[in-house]
Amino acid sequence: MYSDRPPAAPGVPRLSVSDLTVRFGGLTAVDHVSFDVGDGEVVALIGPNGAGKTTVFNAVCALVSRSGQILIDGAPAPRRTAQLAARGVARTLQGLGLFDGLTVAENVAVPVSGEADAPSRVAAQLEAQGLTADADRPVASLSYPDRKRVALARALVSEPRLLLLDEPAGGLGSEDIAALSDTVRSIAAGGCSVLLVEHHVDFVMDLADRIVVLDFGSVIAQGPPAEVQDDPRVEEAYLGVQVAS
Ligand SMILES: Nc1ncnc2c1ncn2[C@@H]1O[C@H](COP(=O)(O)OP(=O)(O)O)[C@@H](O)[C@H]1O
Ligand SMILES: [Mg+2]
Repeated sequence: MYSDRPPAAPGVPRLSVSDLTVRFGGLTAVDHVSFDVGDGEVVALIGPNGAGKTTVFNAVCALVSRSGQILIDGAPAPRRTAQLAARGVARTLQGLGLFDGLTVAENVAVPVSGEADAPSRVAAQLEAQGLTADADRPVASLSYPDRKRVALARALVSEPRLLLLDEPAGGLGSEDIAALSDTVRSIAAGGCSVLLVEHHVDFVMDLADRIVVLDFGSVIAQGPPAEVQDDPRVEEAYLGVQVAS
């Protein structure tokens, strides 16, 4: 682990969000949202398009200004994105944010550049994602599922204790989604907490320990998948959307 703080005491959530509110001019994109992510827990934030999922994600990543409290291991989250890594937080973005002019290995190396053991850490992540043979290829030449694997390898190379994933299943077919589920499970089994923002309901029902459902910026349900699945408010919010995803 490379973060500059020891893990919080037992019982302190890895991530604790309370009363989070984000406004864009007159629009309240996130309205008093509260949830926790425990040690090694997989929590999924779901909801229809425009529900505010990415905005919650961006608030945790210090990419938008917000009110409310965000604690990481019991201490206030940084207000600058660049400080997240030092707190053991890594993320993948909906748009991936890879450097098209760099190779696969160079992309994965970005978070650990200059560190003495960077090559071995990069090699380990490439191997874990099945990307070893692609290490020296320009990242832009890879398929979309493979570029998503590169983004995940890059997030994991800093050995985070909290991993934030925005729409990791988006654009993937069922085989790649199954592989992604296995990867996320093994990440969590290794003690890293995972918050995933996802439009794809079936994927998270199978994977998450707990689900937080957003609609119009507010939490309309949260709990274990089986509970949330049967909640009439969730069915209503997803009417038509679930079929399309
Ligand atoms: N930078 C922004 N400026 C203005 N409105 C935004 C911005 N980002 C998101 N929104 C609005 O906030 C709401 C929530 O968006 P978003 O968090 O992207 O939803 P989701 O990820 O659940 O699809 C939407 O109405 C969207 O149009
Ligand atoms: Mg989004």
